[in-house]
Amino acid sequence: MAKYVVALDQGTTSTRCMIFNRGGETVANHQLEHEQICPRAGWVEHDAMEVWKRTKDVIHAATEKAGLIARDIAAIGITNQRETTVVWDKKTGQPYCNAIVWQDTRTDKICNQLSENGGQDRFRPKTGLPLATYFSGPKIKWMLDNVPGLREAAERGDALFGNMDTWVIWKLTGGPGPEAAHVTDVTNASRTLLMNLETLDWDDEILAELGIPRSMLPQIRPSSDPEFYGLTRSGGPFGGEIPVCGDLGDQQAATVGQTCFEVGEAKNTYGTGCFLLLNTGNEIVHSKHGLVTTVCYQLGKEKPVYALEGSIAIAGALVQWLRDRMRLINTSADVENLAKMVEDNGGIYFVPAFSGLFAPYWRSEARGLIIGMTRFITRGHIARATLESTAFQTREVVDAMQADSGVTLSTLKVDGGMTANELLMQIQADILGVPVIRPKVSESTALGAAYAAGLAVGYWKNIDDLKKNWAVDKTWQPSEDDTLRTKNYHMWKKAVSRTFDWLE
Ligand code: G3P
Repeated sequence: MAKYVVALDQGTTSTRCMIFNRGGETVANHQLEHEQICPRAGWVEHDAMEVWKRTKDVIHAATEKAGLIARDIAAIGITNQRETTVVWDKKTGQPYCNAIVWQDTRTDKICNQLSENGGQDRFRPKTGLPLATYFSGPKIKWMLDNVPGLREAAERGDALFGNMDTWVIWKLTGGPGPEAAHVTDVTNASRTLLMNLETLDWDDEILAELGIPRSMLPQIRPSSDPEFYGLTRSGGPFGGEIPVCGDLGDQQAATVGQTCFEVGEAKNTYGTGCFLLLNTGNEIVHSKHGLVTTVCYQLGKEKPVYALEGSIAIAGALVQWLRDRMRLINTSADVENLAKMVEDNGGIYFVPAFSGLFAPYWRSEARGLIIGMTRFITRGHIARATLESTAFQTREVVDAMQADSGVTLSTLKVDGGMTANELLMQIQADILGVPVIRPKVSESTALGAAYAAGLAVGYWKNIDDLKKNWAVDKTWQPSEDDTLRTKNYHMWKKAVSRTFDWLE
């Protein structure tokens, strides 16, 4: 058996290739950013061809660093920014337009129109999701309605839809070409607003309602698939045939990477956005407090495992915004030292409703604000309020999660790039009032994808094998002072309420 498993993590801001050994340790890693295209207020796009180029580049760089060739690699797992929508020509392999990113709010009108007949939650019983700009279905409809010639191409059977997992797998397995696999997994499909959570199939009624031809859609497969989605090609970036057999949306992948396999286990990933998932086992739990219901993972022919999810659109993206648009810091890491220059937030609150607000509000018309400004405020306070905004938003979804599940959170497992920010982790423990635990491998997303692929080929035997790899790196205990937890949280809620009516 080959010695390593490769994970490709196609995220919102970057793509990375990580190579893991049996102990779940990183052997090599390479990461490249791609362009965030913002042609109008509220629009966010990616060039899928650029993403594919970055994917090839990171594969070459990581395998070269580790000195590997194709036969050293047992399996490949894909994980991805979810919901981001690509539609391409199956004959040429060229996208019809830029990919519409999950943060993009251009489908606001479509969602409002669809809500007129039955309300925002009309598809919730089947899909677990509210009608919101976040999900893929309305984005596909927007493309079919607005890109010249696309609807005809789709009806002829020439146009293929995919999220980034589908796009990368199709390319890796030889697209455009006869062997290219047009597939997705249950977790990604559960983010489209088009899949029925019980049947795990596309829902014909919803497809008809949105005017989306079934022929565009990929086949839905398990997240870990012993029958493989396909093989990489000798002419491709791996230079040989390797099974591609793991696929999970990035937040579900992080849940697997954190080995949250038991009912009631939860993790929070701090990336571009912030996403808290609670494993609810084989039971589909419908939220009454603004969370979404999603597929967590499906291993081979086993029953699917579901999760409740609290999705926050803007977390690390706000730090990036301070860096790239405001030029307040040079690197993302600088935000920590800047925030440490002040004792507290100086009375300001920063609600980053740049893409509206997701959980638990689902208000696409909300717009961001900084409130409480006085002449006393410095760059340090802005940095501090930026970090606090991620922690307060997490508190809101934790409250919703507890109300929905009746389970009181005793600790929070965290991962993702922002967990390197120790100040944020302490603020998070203070705001929640429970310990925050970071594991040794904080790249849980890539690890989860590697686990899914490795399980499919028997590289790891079962989930007990995986649990042995999980270990604590650091724990932050909440401090006794409950100012953040009570008074400031109350002020945060007040600030949030002011974001709703700005556009009225
Ligand atoms: O649902 C969007 C999410 O999958 C994006 O994750 O890590 O790219 O911010 P990330």
